[in-house]
Amino acid sequence: MSLATLEQSILAEIDAATDETALEAVRVAALGKKGTVSERMKALGGMSPDERREAGAALNLLKDRVTEAITARKTRLQDIALDARLAAEKIDVTLPARPQTSGTVHPVSQVWEEVVQIFGDLGFAVAEGPHIEDDFHNFDALNIPPEHPARQEHDTFFFHEKPDGSRMLLRTHTSPVQIRTMLASKPPIRIIAPGRTFRCDSDMTHTPMFNQVEGLVIDETTTLANLKWILAEFCKAFFEVDDVKMRFRASHFPFTEPSMEVDIQYSREGGQLKIGTGDKWLEILGSGMVHPNVIRAGGMDPERVQGWAFGVGLDRIAMLKYGIPDLRAFFEADLRWLRHYGFKALQVPTLAGGLSQ
Ligand code: DAH
Repeated sequence: MSLATLEQSILAEIDAATDETALEAVRVAALGKKGTVSERMKALGGMSPDERREAGAALNLLKDRVTEAITARKTRLQDIALDARLAAEKIDVTLPARPQTSGTVHPVSQVWEEVVQIFGDLGFAVAEGPHIEDDFHNFDALNIPPEHPARQEHDTFFFHEKPDGSRMLLRTHTSPVQIRTMLASKPPIRIIAPGRTFRCDSDMTHTPMFNQVEGLVIDETTTLANLKWILAEFCKAFFEVDDVKMRFRASHFPFTEPSMEVDIQYSREGGQLKIGTGDKWLEILGSGMVHPNVIRAGGMDPERVQGWAFGVGLDRIAMLKYGIPDLRAFFEADLRWLRHYGFKALQVPTLAGGLSQ
């Protein structure tokens, strides 16, 4: 085969290659170790010096042209592949967006955040405690000794007995966080502790798991007057009204002395609850001056420091504020309910921006 014919056939094969793999096969068949061009190179060895010079120069030129053709074809193939990919992955940005399904923020989460915002603004820190508690933190340290009748009222979920006879339990209120906070820090203490609590109870207004917010202030000179002011400020901010009529009713809790329950005034207008004015009273929280025994259990001297505490049902104030009639629905994960009562993710409550705007 003449050199010209060989060149033509190689160039034709290069042109015919439809992808890079095929092109590489053509290159190996021509320029590879045993390729047609390389074989001719080897044959140069048996030629006379003059023949070799001429044939060698011609072969080198052929080799250059073949290499050039391969490079050109390769670039072309890459362009074609890129064009094909661009066509396949084209996005029509003028198409209408697919409707997004969006979740909602649960009313409890929203109200939790509202409460944190309000008390944060009043200088309170947020404290936490474990859901699984021991007798000491949930009862004893809160001035509820084993024989105390209040233990029965708590409908406690207990775990199995341990070898030493003690039983862990699911905390029945957020009050144990008072003890944990006192034991872990020094006065002045100003905390709220929102969190889950558990009692074996279930009806329209009770669920086995519910949420509370505990408040605790310990200092040298804290008084009931401070408590009243803070609670009034909280109620006004939370219910987003200018004035709230409140009633402090003498009550009894083992961990406070004196103890008070706080009622707020409300009226019902066309099925809607209006907080702040009216002629009816609604109980919203328990509070009082921290009992000296509790201060002592918290590792402090009741002769030197005193303070007050309160406990609010978080779900309960969520029901009041947002007009939600049945507590059980809070924890049923019914999408229709969540869409109706839930909040948009960007409705983050802030005091400056308005809590429930
Ligand atoms: N721990 C009480 C309960 O769960 C609520 C409570 C009442 C908490 C009075 C307090 C308080 O801190 O002072 O029923």
